[in-house]
Amino acid sequence: MTDQNHNLVSGDFQQEEDHHEYSLRPSRFNEYIGQQDMKDNLQVFISSALKRKEALDHVLLYGPPGLGKTTMANIIAREMECSVRSTSGPVIEKQGDLAAILTSLEPKQVLFIDEVHRMNRVIEEVLYSAMEDYTLDIMIGQGPSARTIKLDLPRFTLIGATTRTGLLSTPLRERFGIPLHFEYYQPEELKQIIVRSAGILDVQIFDDAALALGKRSRGTPRIANRLLKRARDFADLKTDGVITLEIVDETLTRLGIDEIGLDRLDRTILNQIIKIHGGGPVGITTIAASVSEESDTIEEMVEPFLLKSGLIRRTPRGRVVTERAYEVLGLDPPSSE
Ligand code: ADE
Repeated sequence: MTDQNHNLVSGDFQQEEDHHEYSLRPSRFNEYIGQQDMKDNLQVFISSALKRKEALDHVLLYGPPGLGKTTMANIIAREMECSVRSTSGPVIEKQGDLAAILTSLEPKQVLFIDEVHRMNRVIEEVLYSAMEDYTLDIMIGQGPSARTIKLDLPRFTLIGATTRTGLLSTPLRERFGIPLHFEYYQPEELKQIIVRSAGILDVQIFDDAALALGKRSRGTPRIANRLLKRARDFADLKTDGVITLEIVDETLTRLGIDEIGLDRLDRTILNQIIKIHGGGPVGITTIAASVSEESDTIEEMVEPFLLKSGLIRRTPRGRVVTERAYEVLGLDPPSSE
């Protein structure tokens, strides 16, 4: 171990007033680690919108959970020097609810709709004209005397977030001028996020310990921050609050997280595919049922990471495990393939 990777990283970050999870979220581009291409492009789009004194075009943020979509939406609003109204697809129950939100927006304001794919299709239609020409068609009256009136809306920016664009209807998807895809983070980026969070939480962590946490956080800042807090719990009892590599190892072992960040559910799923379904192919609903989880949960939270890690593959007939999955689980791969 070199001196360099055993450095104690002291946190000289500004402490926020509340110690709530929220305070770990960066609030400006210069504090946001990772997603470099996305940030570079956004900075151009934002500067030019500001220069033209126009609202930013509508933005669609998509990618697996925990990668910073909500954080990015708030940063965009802040960089655009405007406030943000936040809601989510499932809570908008009627067209009227959405109409009320849209008509109360201020010019250039950001409307953030999380889980935008879970909006009811009928409600969603209100968004089409709102996004495209900033108008709202309202029906008044019923039966033969019913008619629609058009209301002008302020020029606003819709930021939608979804785990997969495939879940979005085509007309809605096509109305976002700036679609942005979140990539899983590299271990080194997660290490930097962990060091930053440790500074905010006022915990001391060794460099090598931060990297070890980063490598085992499934490419996901939300998981990295959660594991950091659990390591802090062990450190409080054992090392006076200092997070060492040994503390990280112990924490992750106790939590059932392996060397490459797989948790018990990941390993159970791989084991089920191998032992019950002969390595696949097997459908996602069958996999979900065999571990008593919802298909959506598996598809959104588990599968993307297993795919990205090269542990499973998608085929037209279902998911199959790869040779690497056998290796990781310490099993012998089938001899004839
Ligand atoms: N905390 C959570 N996600 C982060 C990110 N991408 N950069 C910095 N801090 C974070």
